[in-house]
Amino acid sequence: MNTLHARLLFMVLTSLTCLAQLAAQADRVPVHDPPWTAPAREAARSNPLANQSGAAAGGQKVFLQRCSTCHGDDGCGTTRGPNLAAADVQRQPDGALFWKVSSGNTHGGMPAFSFLPPAQRWQLVLHLRTLAGAPGKP
Ligand code: HEC
Repeated sequence: MNTLHARLLFMVLTSLTCLAQLAAQADRVPVHDPPWTAPAREAARSNPLANQSGAAAGGQKVFLQRCSTCHGDDGCGTTRGPNLAAADVQRQPDGALFWKVSSGNTHGGMPAFSFLPPAQRWQLVLHLRTLAGAPGKP
């Protein structure tokens, strides 16, 4: 089993809610680019909007406008972008996800969203936490 297969298998096993979509696209869903990692100082930043009611809903609106073409309305991924409910995404701290959304990874096909106001990017991070299968989802 090569690393690509191992990673896909991991994504499928750790995100049962997205299983159907992943099974349908298993060999075409992009996988995370390992060297693309937030600097420790960025990863340590905490979400200033945590506990602010309504902020995640605002994030969902932005997500549907800007992100779902690649990540799917439910965040489960498409042939253009990975599953964001997967454990390997959800276990990254808020600051790391904020950094990834802000700076993007042109090499991997993820655009940079640094042009969005920081509050909107933190709202997006809150929305990512509500995705199906995410830990802490009610
Ligand atoms: C043009 C397609 C595209 C759009 C639009 C897009 N993404 Fe991505 N996204 C990707 C791809 C491809 C990756 C995988 C990049 C990699 O790992 O190298 C990715 C990766 C990510 C990751 C990191 C996942 C991980 O494994 O660590 C996050 C978080 C993310 N996107 C959030 C968003 C958010 C939020 C938006 C909207 C503001 C968005 N993306 C819009 C294609 C897209």
